[in-house]
Amino acid sequence: MNNKKYTVTAALPYANGPLHLGHVAGVYLPADIFVRFLRMKGEDVAFVCASDEHGAAITLRAKKEGTSPQAIVDKYHTINKKAFEDFQIGFDIYSRTSNAIHHQTASDYFKKLNDKGSFIKKTTEQYYDPEFNQFLADRYITGTCPKCQNEGAYGDQCEKCGSALSPTELINPASNLSGKTPVLKETSHWFLPMDQHETWLREWIQNGTLNGEQQHDPKTWRNQVVGQCMSWIDGGLQPRAMTRDLDWGVKVPVEGADGKVLYVWLDAPIGYISATKEWAETAGKNWEDYWTGDAELIHFIGKDNIVFHAIIFPILLKEHGDYVLPTNVPAYEFLNLEGDKFSTSRNWAVWLHEFIANHPDKIDELKYVLTSIAPESKDAEFTWKEFKDRVNNELADILGNFMNRAVVLTHKYYDGIVPPLSEDGKKEYAGYIEAIAEMPGNMERNIRAYKLRQAQADVMDLARLGNKFFAETEPWKLFKTEPEKVKDILNITLQIAANISILLRPFLPKKAEKIGQILNFNTNNALTWDQAGGIALLQSGHQINKSEILVQKIDDSLVEDEVARLEASKSARAEQNGPPQKDTVNFDDFVKMDIRVGEILEAEKVPKADKLLKLTVDTGIDKRTVVSGIAEHYQPEDVIGKKVSILMNLAPRKIRGVESHGMILMAEDSEGKLCFVSPEKPFNAGGEIR
Ligand code: 2FM
Ligand code: ZN
Repeated sequence: MNNKKYTVTAALPYANGPLHLGHVAGVYLPADIFVRFLRMKGEDVAFVCASDEHGAAITLRAKKEGTSPQAIVDKYHTINKKAFEDFQIGFDIYSRTSNAIHHQTASDYFKKLNDKGSFIKKTTEQYYDPEFNQFLADRYITGTCPKCQNEGAYGDQCEKCGSALSPTELINPASNLSGKTPVLKETSHWFLPMDQHETWLREWIQNGTLNGEQQHDPKTWRNQVVGQCMSWIDGGLQPRAMTRDLDWGVKVPVEGADGKVLYVWLDAPIGYISATKEWAETAGKNWEDYWTGDAELIHFIGKDNIVFHAIIFPILLKEHGDYVLPTNVPAYEFLNLEGDKFSTSRNWAVWLHEFIANHPDKIDELKYVLTSIAPESKDAEFTWKEFKDRVNNELADILGNFMNRAVVLTHKYYDGIVPPLSEDGKKEYAGYIEAIAEMPGNMERNIRAYKLRQAQADVMDLARLGNKFFAETEPWKLFKTEPEKVKDILNITLQIAANISILLRPFLPKKAEKIGQILNFNTNNALTWDQAGGIALLQSGHQINKSEILVQKIDDSLVEDEVARLEASKSARAEQNGPPQKDTVNFDDFVKMDIRVGEILEAEKVPKADKLLKLTVDTGIDKRTVVSGIAEHYQPEDVIGKKVSILMNLAPRKIRGVESHGMILMAEDSEGKLCFVSPEKPFNAGGEIR
């Protein structure tokens, strides 16, 4: 019997916000498909995930929402756990890193490595925000990435180019607490001397060998993963602090470490181990079987997590000594949304829990589209239009239509009873039978190479093949003249349908089950992957059920509503926050503007113009006429004597027949209310505004 175990992990999402479709397409859905496939192959798999509840991502979010870190993680853990369940991501466990078992596991892990000398304790100068009395690690500090010039890089990582950084490498660092340039201050931390691990890492990543033993097949690793890792190693790895001066996280379990916690990127991947332990306890398994010996460890992640899973965690695993190293780290590129990046802060996202709430009957439709566009080798894009098109033109027209024809014709000609396949039929349609036979193997090769897009396209090709078979043989024309042939044809099309119901299951479990129900076949999903490929899945004489709509077509109105929803949340955001900042101007441009304090001496309405007042303004150097669009906000008599800001050197222009020399500056709020920008104390006309 095969005793081999698999541990498949999906990156622990920070419990600092809801999950969006980008997360789903590039981590959780592919991991789920892969695991469903392994299970159909009869493999013993632990599929683990959890909320990542530590680190600056959490504490900063709490600060932003004006609440405690605990309240933040409780809120988002609950939302995300439910969304995963509703979306049928079949984790064996969805745990959280705040659980006691995780604190204990991470703490013991650190102690073990510290005892054996895997870390170096060093005192160095770190950035500090004196206003907030806090050291600024990780997301507490932002600046320009020295590698790719991204201006929003964090102190530990640039999410744009994926580089692991130290705060001191950032160009123009700024504190995320006060917004100011931080100062340097001494503090002690435990560092992982990554530079000492370069030699074996290079060998392991490039050749898949460790201590001369083959650990994995490097050809199965994605080029981007190997490429990124090698470029970091070639650039020279730096010692990296594994502890932080923070009060939220796993306490550093050694003497003299008060006020320090483990670096979130040390504790989070250990969360995979804690989650396995927690699951094993209730499932009656031995967790170590999944982390030792010939167990295969596979990490599904987004590309911004590569360095942590393919370099840092492997170093920690190897140093620990008891556990296996990952056999693969399938990393995904990013998914964009309607021409822009997914962004939580700009609310430019399709949130998974909202999609489920709004379209509870379209779970598999979403899975289908997300796998079709999965960002396996380059960034991809989700649009609602493509969502509709793929559901209608592919799922409904190709798969739904094929199924419907096969089932309806079987009922029409044979009362829903599977007709026999003759020896002549087997010979005549050998090409089709061969194509069916090859499918499970082809798909398996693609799935094992993490080409899930292609594997899903393969099973759709089976439906296409079925449609082609109908089109070529036209059984409805033969029924009167060659009834024996029609039996062969329908038998084969039903075998294709039965094969689809097996092979589709990792991708679209609900649709696969529905096909099974219609065919009255494989009701408890007892059939394994290897039972697909044959033409005797449905015995002749077997009664099938009536056809049902497999895929409901999507209306244009759904696309319109969803795009409008996105646009509305964008403009609501803009209203809340004001319009986005305009492009940078340099100082030379700014000083070209001559702005002064002016006093309004006279004011009158401009005839036939509801919005305009004609003002006479004392500017200190002259008295001039300015036309201003404030008549809906001020009566002429209210403004006389007001000290206002006037842009003096705006080119004169005629407005409703009156020549205006300059512009009065106004402040405008989100409701369009206007008021003057005036000096805060009594002030003479003519004062310059700079
Ligand atoms: O990037 C992220 O969202 C991290 N929370 C991923 C952690 S993965 C693992 F190490 F736990
Ligand atoms: Zn960068």
